[in-house]
Amino acid sequence: MAAPENIPVEKCLEEYKSSFRSDLLKGKVAFITGGGSGICFTIAEIFMRHGCDTAISGRKLERLKLSSKTLSEATGHRCLPIQMDVRKPQEVIDAVDNCLKEFGRIDILINGAAGNFLCPLENMSFNAFKTVIEIDTLGTFNVSKVVFDKFFKNNGGVIINITAMLHHRGTILQAHVGSAKAAIETLTKHQALEWGPKGVRVLCVAPGPIGDTEGMSRLGMGASAEDVGLRIPIRRMGTRKEIGEICLFLVSDMAGLITSSTIEADGASWLADGSEEKRIEMYKALMSKM
Ligand code: NAP
Ligand code: COA
Repeated sequence: MAAPENIPVEKCLEEYKSSFRSDLLKGKVAFITGGGSGICFTIAEIFMRHGCDTAISGRKLERLKLSSKTLSEATGHRCLPIQMDVRKPQEVIDAVDNCLKEFGRIDILINGAAGNFLCPLENMSFNAFKTVIEIDTLGTFNVSKVVFDKFFKNNGGVIINITAMLHHRGTILQAHVGSAKAAIETLTKHQALEWGPKGVRVLCVAPGPIGDTEGMSRLGMGASAEDVGLRIPIRRMGTRKEIGEICLFLVSDMAGLITSSTIEADGASWLADGSEEKRIEMYKALMSKM
């Protein structure tokens, strides 16, 4: 099926060899918001390559259908495309019902749906700030609540909320998203505390800059991957596959003790301010004079 010209086409990994058993998630079902594109598409792919069936959701049905076909063909597992806006509780309820009708269960929830754009606070409209809070924070609450009420309350499960590192020290032009993601990380702690006794683990994965994503193309201001990498202690951006594999470990039984935490998946980029090499040079110059 050729994609209509205006739909961006997602591609699966060109080659994939896992360190984990290919049946690690056999018989499990993951509900993945934002799974039609980017990082969450690859999370869906990696889960499916380990035996999981998935439901991927977003607002754009045609892209979801195309992505679901690509994922199923590459992995041999089922992928249900579901149209919904995470801001609309009734659409979330219908989507979760749809997934449960198709698969009979949900074991894993990935809250990945998000919105972002660069904007200085002084130019940010009331609605711009509200929109991002509604998609990211309320969206995460809405979907978690419905999945918990309808399935996790009686069966347990794992929730991964995808956040970011922006708010860990504050990032210019990102006050809306930083605030939204900080609230998600706090919500995560409350969810872990209240839902732990029901067998639900809740975590955040906080990516730094990830290559080949809408997020980077929106926020990178045209900087090359090399230039972005130079500012990161590990000297490169992360990959979608790396985020997928971190999530794979976290949803598996191997991570049974980990709940409430935020996994910083950023190569320590938030610790660096770009002045490190210059300061080492200054130190060397100082020492050479002694
Ligand atoms: P992306 O491909 O644009 O993913 C965002 C997804 O959210 C899209 O599939 C979009 O689908 C969905 N979405 C947006 N608004 C929605 C709504 N109201 N209801 C339902 N779905 C909605 O971007 P990405 O870069 O891969 O980002 C994925 C996640 O990683 C996000 O949570 C982002 O904050 C986080 N993250 C990314 C980076 C990075 O470097 N890329 C860094 C840190 C954190 P529709 O348009 O079809 O609705
Ligand atoms: N700079 C400043 N304000 C902006 C903006 C920008 N680049 N883009 C949107 N806004 C403002 C709008 O002007 C509007 O405010 P207003 O009513 O005061 O004018 C408000 O944000 C809502 O915009 P709208 O386009 O109506 O929202 P939407 O619900 O259709 O889309 C977005 C949500 C804006 C987040 C859109 O970019 C989106 O759908 N993003 C999903 C994909 C994504 O962001 N991926 C990266 C994830 S890291």
